[in-house]
Amino acid sequence: MSDYAGRKVLVTGAASGLGRLMALAIAAEGGELILWDVNRAGADAVRGEIARAGRPASCYQCDLADRHAIAASARQTLADHGGIDILINNAGVVSGKGLLEISEEAIQRTFDVNTLALFWTTRAFLPGMIARDRGHVVTIASAAGIVGTSRLVDYCASKHAAVGFNESLRLELRRQRSHVRTTVVCPFYISTGMFAGVKTRFPLLLPIMDPEYVVTRIVKAVQRNRARVVLPRLIYATFLARLLPVPLFDASMEFLGVNKSMDEFTGRAGEEDQLQRRQA
Ligand SMILES: NC(=O)c1ccc[n+]([C@@H]2O[C@H](COP(=O)([O-])OP(=O)(O)OC[C@H]3O[C@@H](n4cnc5c(N)ncnc54)[C@H](OP(=O)(O)O)[C@@H]3O)[C@@H](O)[C@H]2O)c1
Repeated sequence: MSDYAGRKVLVTGAASGLGRLMALAIAAEGGELILWDVNRAGADAVRGEIARAGRPASCYQCDLADRHAIAASARQTLADHGGIDILINNAGVVSGKGLLEISEEAIQRTFDVNTLALFWTTRAFLPGMIARDRGHVVTIASAAGIVGTSRLVDYCASKHAAVGFNESLRLELRRQRSHVRTTVVCPFYISTGMFAGVKTRFPLLLPIMDPEYVVTRIVKAVQRNRARVVLPRLIYATFLARLLPVPLFDASMEFLGVNKSMDEFTGRAGEEDQLQRRQA
């Protein structure tokens, strides 16, 4: 993908945070936005923002934790728009509790939204991309898909799976000599509210990043067909740190404060509370 102009771009989790900002930025570049979110009113508000800027956008209420809901939204999206040129798998959830404190339902939801939804959305829209031999699948993973940390066992495991999903898909497309591209995005913490309360020990080395900065980097990376975006750059050092003996690796994570970063996490009104409210 070199250009967003005239491209149909589907963003999941588009009602807030990175999803909203990516949708606005891509619309400003001439993209036609298709917004999916479980929060219908929020997605509709973003559609309104894009429409006021004179750009086309439509939105669909879809619970990414529900495979059947994804299939239904995909059918409707394909009926309304034909194919999708760029699929941005962005929706994500976090529980932020120790392994023994998280409910089974929350663990299930973490994997449904952060991992399994990637399969269902991509399987819905990839055939059209392959048939046209053009398209782009973007996976918003996390630095938590590269390193693990305490109080994020379910989240890190789901994001490691997201990184593996992207890498295997990229290699599968390569074997098919397809021109469909993939990008995986692995950022450290971003101040969207999803990780409210997290702390960084060395803010110059490992800053909690502004969402606008991260979105600018993602939007450019997709335009330039970059396969991987890791932010900030220090996170790349973790690939090298993997060569260390495990006790040294763990000590370095402790020293950098990564393993304590979630100690004061509050999240956005508590994801698990939200889940309970939705189930009530
Ligand atoms: N923020 C960070 O520090 C950070 C760092 C690295 C990676 N990431 C990743 O970046 C992505 C975006 O995060 P963000 O910070 O922008 O989070 P966010 O502000 O919480 O936005 C996530 C969006 O996804 C939606 N969503 C949640 N569950 C959904 C579901 N079941 N079905 C459909 N939509 C759903 C949310 O809707 P509701 O608000 O209604 O739930 C929200 O609009 C996520 O994949 C996250 O894991 C974030």
